[in-house]
Amino acid sequence: MAETYTLSLTAEDRFVEVFAAVLAFDPKRLEKDLRDSLFGQHIVSDIVLKAVTSFMTDSNPNKPLVLSFHGTTGVGKNHVAQIIAKNIYENGIESYHVHTYISEHHFPHKEKSDLYKAQLKQEIYKSVSSFPRSMFIFDEMDKMQPQLIDVIKPFLDYKLNVDGVSFRNAIFIFLSNAGGNVIAEVALDLWREGICREELWMNSKELETKIFRKIFNDKNSGFLHSSMIDEHLIDYYVPFLPLMLKHVRQCVMAEMSHLKIKPNYELADKVAREMPFFPEKERIFSAKGCKSVRQKLALYDN
Ligand SMILES: Nc1ncnc2c1ncn2[C@@H]1O[C@H](COP(=O)(O)OP(=O)(O)OP(=O)(O)O)[C@@H](O)[C@H]1O
Ligand SMILES: [Mg+2]
Repeated sequence: MAETYTLSLTAEDRFVEVFAAVLAFDPKRLEKDLRDSLFGQHIVSDIVLKAVTSFMTDSNPNKPLVLSFHGTTGVGKNHVAQIIAKNIYENGIESYHVHTYISEHHFPHKEKSDLYKAQLKQEIYKSVSSFPRSMFIFDEMDKMQPQLIDVIKPFLDYKLNVDGVSFRNAIFIFLSNAGGNVIAEVALDLWREGICREELWMNSKELETKIFRKIFNDKNSGFLHSSMIDEHLIDYYVPFLPLMLKHVRQCVMAEMSHLKIKPNYELADKVAREMPFFPEKERIFSAKGCKSVRQKLALYDN
């Protein structure tokens, strides 16, 4: 269980952190960050920019912001959560006000669910009561026990407050692979029809309906067993598309810059082509997105 920042900070640290924690939100900066560092996710960029901007510029939101990210592995879900955090908190994802939970890491034992429930409830409550603009990221949401999802639910609602604390300035982001394969199938169908994936939008090819249906019907997903979806507590479902060779190449170039290696387009192309692609014959989409690109690149760096 992640420690609450009250336990890990001295009073003086805490004072400094609370007052230096939040940046003045600048939608132009978020737009630029998404444009410069997120590749091949036009639907995500569009939804995230609009959702975060309208929430952050609303002086009196009527509920916390709740985003649910869906997509196959390595397509940028954590990356986008980091970009959002970087635009809100001075210390970005490292801020004491950003709490990240990874289901199988923080809540691994089924039999301990009562303990997890109590801890999680207390932690969310404590964090928001001392700092209303807190952010909670739940990774592997589809692997989370439904009872734990139910603990989060009351905090997401349109209530004035929960036990005297308002949650309306808090941000919740759920990351999952749920619906990822459906998104990839839709993108592949389009490609087979000769339509490029940049033409796919949330309202095209019934993408939204298909994602919902998939998440609803997945018997293994914690989402199904929780009433979170029925109660419309999620404000935005955000579909991440599978990445193509050109996007993986961009990821390699970005890693070169990160590792302070001289930009080398040919090397980027070579590294990108070594990644696995699917379908096996046509090799259209990267099977691991941009995951482990840095490690692949490191093999060539001498
Ligand atoms: N669309 C993208 N644009 C830019 N970089 C990306 C993109 N997708 C992935 N990356 C890079 O690849 C790394 C792995 O991606 P990330 O951790 O965000 O994947 P994920 O979607 O959360 O996958 P998983 O479902 O396996 O958790 C990121 O740190 C980032 O550097
Ligand atoms: Mg992830």
